[in-house]
Amino acid sequence: MAQRQPLRRLAVVTGASTGIGYELARCCAEAGYDLLISADEPAIDTAAAELRTHGASVQAVQADLATSDGVEALHSVALGLGRPVDALLANAGRGLGKAFLDQDFAEVRRVIDTNVTGTVQLIQKVGRDMRARGAGRILVTGSIAGFMPGTYQAVYNGTKAFVDSFAAALRHELQDAGVTVTCLMPGPTDTEFFARAGMLDTKVGRQDKDDPATVARIGFEAMENGEGDVIAGWKNKLQVAMSRVAPTDRMAEIHRRMAEPRGDG
Ligand SMILES: NC(=O)c1ccc[n+]([C@@H]2O[C@H](COP(=O)([O-])OP(=O)(O)OC[C@H]3O[C@@H](n4cnc5c(N)ncnc54)[C@H](OP(=O)(O)O)[C@@H]3O)[C@@H](O)[C@H]2O)c1
Repeated sequence: MAQRQPLRRLAVVTGASTGIGYELARCCAEAGYDLLISADEPAIDTAAAELRTHGASVQAVQADLATSDGVEALHSVALGLGRPVDALLANAGRGLGKAFLDQDFAEVRRVIDTNVTGTVQLIQKVGRDMRARGAGRILVTGSIAGFMPGTYQAVYNGTKAFVDSFAAALRHELQDAGVTVTCLMPGPTDTEFFARAGMLDTKVGRQDKDDPATVARIGFEAMENGEGDVIAGWKNKLQVAMSRVAPTDRMAEIHRRMAEPRGDG
């Protein structure tokens, strides 16, 4: 008689085409999760093919998670799988460098809609299902940027301050619901983020950065252990500790030095 295969868990990972999100999805696949992954561009299909080599069943959804339609599309595919979402890794996000008054407002809005509106909309939809089942793990990718005013990245840092705060609050709302909320707070990490944000002519854009696989592993393990906030790397922990005691203007000035465009990029 054929042996029944143990049921694999299901993880939904957004922003899984590249960078930290891809590495989070890889951690999930290696740990025995099947995957529903999503991003805005067709590269999500390439990521899905790579992730299948780790033995997971992987479904990819190309959706713009800055829009309600995109979030609904991803959620309805998740529902259509007919199995519970065991873990939601809400990681999709984008940065935007340069002086606020010089930014294109459509791009400003896209940062807010992706990092804040789309993220909380998806978390509410999937979180309701998890609360009803009394089980689930949520990981949100926040940032240490949420602890400091983002001179020359003002809107982005504001969105991450929102995400960091939101995750902590939701964790406490769900503390008796069987659903954990982990907030992964990376520092500068070596992904496509800085090129996409137009920040390659900045100090932070050019400096050595953390390895996305290491950052993702830290976040994934924290999620699996049901931990709360997790700051990846000791230098980032120091920076957050400093931001808790230093005056806001001091942190805004430190950020200016890191993110001011040099105009030679
Ligand atoms: N890199 C860093 O230094 C750093 C530090 C702290 C926090 N973070 C956070 O880490 C997360 C991942 O960023 P990353 O560094 O890995 O950068 P990345 O390589 O640029 O990856 C971003 C991912 O998000 C997806 N995405 C962006 N906008 C989207 C949208 N509107 N709809 C659907 N998918 C969207 C991208 O897919 P498409 O290409 O298809 O749009 C991509 O898969 C973000 O939340 C970022 O804020 C990054």
